[in-house]
Amino acid sequence: MTPIQRCVKEKNTNITPIWIMRQAGRYLPEFREIRVKNPDFIKLCLNENLSSEITLQPIKRFNFDAAIIFSDILMLPYGLDQEVKFEKGLGPKLGELDLDKLENISEDKFNKKLSSVYQAISKTSVNPILKNKDLIGFIGAPWTILVYMVNRMSPKNDLSKKIFKDNLFIKKLLIIIEKFLKIHIENQIKAGASLIQIFDSWAGLQEENISEYIYEPTLNLVNHTRKLGVPVICFPRGIDNYKNFCDVIKPDMVNIDYNVDPRKAVKEIKIPIQGGLDPKVLLTDKKNLHTEAVKYLQIFKDHPYVFNLGHGILPETKIEMVEELVKIVREFK
Ligand code: CP3
Repeated sequence: MTPIQRCVKEKNTNITPIWIMRQAGRYLPEFREIRVKNPDFIKLCLNENLSSEITLQPIKRFNFDAAIIFSDILMLPYGLDQEVKFEKGLGPKLGELDLDKLENISEDKFNKKLSSVYQAISKTSVNPILKNKDLIGFIGAPWTILVYMVNRMSPKNDLSKKIFKDNLFIKKLLIIIEKFLKIHIENQIKAGASLIQIFDSWAGLQEENISEYIYEPTLNLVNHTRKLGVPVICFPRGIDNYKNFCDVIKPDMVNIDYNVDPRKAVKEIKIPIQGGLDPKVLLTDKKNLHTEAVKYLQIFKDHPYVFNLGHGILPETKIEMVEELVKIVREFK
């Protein structure tokens, strides 16, 4: 069994595996080299050879315990035929959303549009470098995907648009998103993903309808993944009450964000925990990194824990700080 699976399934507290959210990305010179030659981000995600190569870059450099497939949560709206573009410095931009058109998208068409993502997973999963390591497949949670599809760009911290108050519209859209996320999960698992992570980056923006918009659809996806025999990690970033989330959803592991007090989390949350360290700590110095990383390692020493950050690694992070972090985690006794 891989180290992460031992944490998750056996609740082993003697090992602390490590991987990093957004580990395959812009802080790596070898990624940037590929990226400048491939200005279209979606096309890059759909290039199975390059996607596989980028997925393995951080493994070669840092020997992390898991690789996460190089793709994006917004490949889902792309698969549903909504235009998705990434403009330099602006983040994602999505095209118009047409509910009638969406209701008529066939499973076949969706599978064809995303087939290279699954081929990238198949190809990567058999690479010997991943021996005794996990290959993580992922999705955006229904609510976060909906936020991007409706807002058509990152929402900052504001969902004041009238359409977000239209409960019927939101529910119809959530049903379609959930249906295709289930297919997307199943396809990734069939291709060789050994774990699934659900990113709910905008969970913190929903308070009024949290049961209907966050808990229920997420619960359905967690149960779906588990039926397929693969553990599932949830990351409900910014949600008010992680304990309540875990009690209701019962994922196999939860990733806490950097605003969660780890001492409170370790007392309240009964399932395996991942992450927490503020990615900004990697922008400071080695001494401070040591203090902060050891804080998490100490607090979670008797709890099944996978080391990770409390959000994605920042593009300006220096390689040597990541090397240092891996060393600290591996040498901690
Ligand atoms: O290394 C990995 O984690 C695997 C690949 C991965 C990417 N995005 C690649 C990517 C994963 C797991 C994601 C998840 C993702 N994508 C999330 C959830 C996590 C989070 O950060 O909250 C979200 C919200 C997105 C949507 C998205 N994709 C945004 C908002 C942006 C632009 C802003 C940014 O952070 O760069 C992207 C682009 C993106 N996805 C890049 C990468 C490597 C940068 C592309 C570039 O080179 O310009």
